[in-house]
Amino acid sequence: MSIKEIKIDDLNPGKFIKQKVDEIRSVVGNGLAIKALSGGVDSSVVTILGYRALGDRLKTYFIENGLMRENEPQRIVSLFQKLGVPVKIVDVKEQFFSALKGLTDPEEKRESITQTFYKDVFGKLVKESGAKYLMQGTNYTDVEETLAGIKRQHNILEQLGIDTEGKYGYKIIEPILEVRKSGIRKVGEALGLPEEIYNRPPFPGPALSARIIGEVTQKRIETVRKATKIVEEELCDSGAFQYLAILHKDRVTGIREGKRDYGLQIEIRCWESKDAITGSPTRVPYETLEKLAKRITDNVEGVVSVTYNITKKPPSTIEAV
Ligand code: XMP
Repeated sequence: MSIKEIKIDDLNPGKFIKQKVDEIRSVVGNGLAIKALSGGVDSSVVTILGYRALGDRLKTYFIENGLMRENEPQRIVSLFQKLGVPVKIVDVKEQFFSALKGLTDPEEKRESITQTFYKDVFGKLVKESGAKYLMQGTNYTDVEETLAGIKRQHNILEQLGIDTEGKYGYKIIEPILEVRKSGIRKVGEALGLPEEIYNRPPFPGPALSARIIGEVTQKRIETVRKATKIVEEELCDSGAFQYLAILHKDRVTGIREGKRDYGLQIEIRCWESKDAITGSPTRVPYETLEKLAKRITDNVEGVVSVTYNITKKPPSTIEAV
């Protein structure tokens, strides 16, 4: 890989921040840049770096793609407003759902999300705002996994030889390309982000669609969103690296009110990991698993089966898609 990793032990957050702020200023010059803030650690760190470098010349948007967790857009926008960074919500739910319609293959779904983000949504925002640059929080692990052919991470473009300027009309700035998640958290803390942001469990760019096996529809997103909320509430104190709910495609026979119910299956995953390259399932107490199964089957419509994944990464990956 041509990018040189900055290992956690070699990272000096203060020096890193200064260097990146200087680099962003020198690349953008007097122009404008845009940043799509998702509220994840990587994206939040890049937003603050960009805002420090450019101030109002950074236009920050929250892309409401319909695939995010419950109340996420409002929560993130108000949190950044408190930090003094104005963020505008762009509602493009319909665009994402119509692009995903009928797709079941994981890589086709990822490609459709990439195209909708980069061509349709950012292409338009760049044109409207007059910006020439898009800032994004691609990290070292994202590039490594994509180049290794494991998963096409939604945000890998230039490293795959894609000319974003020719194709979409803007250049990409990726300030945290040389660091992994643990280093990004350190930078986030040094930037003064609240702990609830810099210590947030990772969340994938394709959002809840990475947790739906088979077609992504509004209804299926709603199911996985409700299950995600319960999983996050029950496991947020587990100390795990990441925890998630996955909606399966296959149905299974269950019983509801004494009658046969051919219902939905939710799989829970909870990971111990340092950098998402490898991972092991957390030994979640059985009582917690039982509580999760009860809450999900009681509260998420149509679910008759809840399972817990006990596979390591590899051969599993962290997300299901
Ligand atoms: P996997 O599923 O490949 O995930 O084991 C490794 C880590 O990356 C996150 N992930 C993504 N992040 N864009 C991202 O920004 C993506 O397309 C994407 N896919 C997975 C995942 O949540 C985990 O932390």
